[in-house]
Amino acid sequence: MKSTSAGGVSGYTESYPVDGIPENSGRFVVRGGARLAGDVVLAGAKNSALKLMAASLLTPEPCVISRVPRITDVFTMVEVLRSLGVAVDFEGDELRIAAGDGLSDCAPYELVRTMRASIVVMGPMVARLGRATIAMPGGCNIGPRRIDFHLRGLEKLGARVEIEHGFIKLSCDRLRGAVVPLDYPSVGATENLLMAATAAEGETVIENAAREPEIVDLAEYLSSMGACIEGAGTSSVHVQGGRPLHGTQHQVIADRIEAGTYLIAGAVGAGDVTVHGLEPHHLELFLTKLHLMGVEIQEGKHSMRASRSGPLRPVDISTLPHPGFPTDLQAQVMVLLSLADGTSIVTENVFENRFVVVDELNRLGAGITTSGHHAVVTGPRALTGTVVEAPDLRGGAALVIAGLVAEGSTEIRGAHHIDRGYEGFADKLTALGANVTRVQADETPLARTTGASARTLR
Ligand code: EPZ
Repeated sequence: MKSTSAGGVSGYTESYPVDGIPENSGRFVVRGGARLAGDVVLAGAKNSALKLMAASLLTPEPCVISRVPRITDVFTMVEVLRSLGVAVDFEGDELRIAAGDGLSDCAPYELVRTMRASIVVMGPMVARLGRATIAMPGGCNIGPRRIDFHLRGLEKLGARVEIEHGFIKLSCDRLRGAVVPLDYPSVGATENLLMAATAAEGETVIENAAREPEIVDLAEYLSSMGACIEGAGTSSVHVQGGRPLHGTQHQVIADRIEAGTYLIAGAVGAGDVTVHGLEPHHLELFLTKLHLMGVEIQEGKHSMRASRSGPLRPVDISTLPHPGFPTDLQAQVMVLLSLADGTSIVTENVFENRFVVVDELNRLGAGITTSGHHAVVTGPRALTGTVVEAPDLRGGAALVIAGLVAEGSTEIRGAHHIDRGYEGFADKLTALGANVTRVQADETPLARTTGASARTLR
């Protein structure tokens, strides 16, 4: 496996595979039947941390980000930043980032292709350097993942966009504030435009902006750097741009999708799980749906507890942009619906192809049929363990959850998908009483392992 040379910046102790995440990085082995109970301290949100890292390109001054999850998508973003010439040091859950002068304007294909989220360096690069060359991000299992809203918005701000030989080339003399209406409240487009707008002379208004909590976290990060932003979290965001930004310190918000994943993991086996570190309002509709299914929810100031003693009821679910039901919890909740007394309809409105995991769930005994954007989930079903393949990050998590209640042993291959977004997944589930082993490709299952093989970047 090719690797980058040592990063040449202080604290960099180990090379990271330039050709992306190891394809055959092992599996999770789960024995079903455990009732999960206990507490989970949430990691920082993957879908915020990656953007805060990109936003650090907007200033030459050092930025310190804490509660950064040790997951492979973060390690990939570290590599992307280092490839641009940024000094990045990872100590514990703290990242120190200094994007000094002399930055490269080209993000390498090998890294961009492994993680679509790399595209969020585009806005800050144009803002800081006046130009950027970045490989067209590939699609992935869940859809084509287009970036037309990103590019049209940057053009509105004065960037020239050329696409040739699979690369996007952006350039501008000066970014200028503008009204930028989005066809759809795209999370990534809102983030790229928000970051670019901080350098655009005058006022920018992003209309139909995404409203996710991760957008608010990014806006707070940019404001702490000196940006002037109003309306983050609403569909109309105003930015007064053109002023230089300075360094900052910031703690990433907790990961609401990680939270929902563990609450479902507890509910499937009639357990009692509390997640800590998150504002419940970040998951309002999700918690309402769990309650309608018969899961008892107790909300604390920064915690949520889900317990179940009775049968599960079917409910219909439609994924939507925030504050709608999160698409990133759709696969996981289908496992819960498979155990409910009746039929549920799940409608996926965000991505074109996010039922990829259904075939694998059905191999475990689920009874799900799909037609276009709709999945019909019949229950209750008795799941039985077998070997399955994780198709993507959230589908992989759903398969592990299914293994928790399947009779016998379930082996979930393609663990590298899960390592992208869940820090210490096996450890946290084991601490709740699950029988889960994380096995490397060349290992035999050990009694207990130490979680995902996170690379030790210092
Ligand atoms: C972010 O992806 C998240 N990823 C996704 O989480 C999440 O599912 C998604 O937002 C929706 O909440 C990160 O933050 C790294 P979008 P993003 O732009 O920004 C279409 C996970 O599991 N679209 O809101 O790519 C697009 O094809 C990941 O953690 C265009 O057509 O989401 C999709 O159908 C998966 N043109 C829809 O909009 C564009 O220019 C939503 O995309 C942009 C998007």
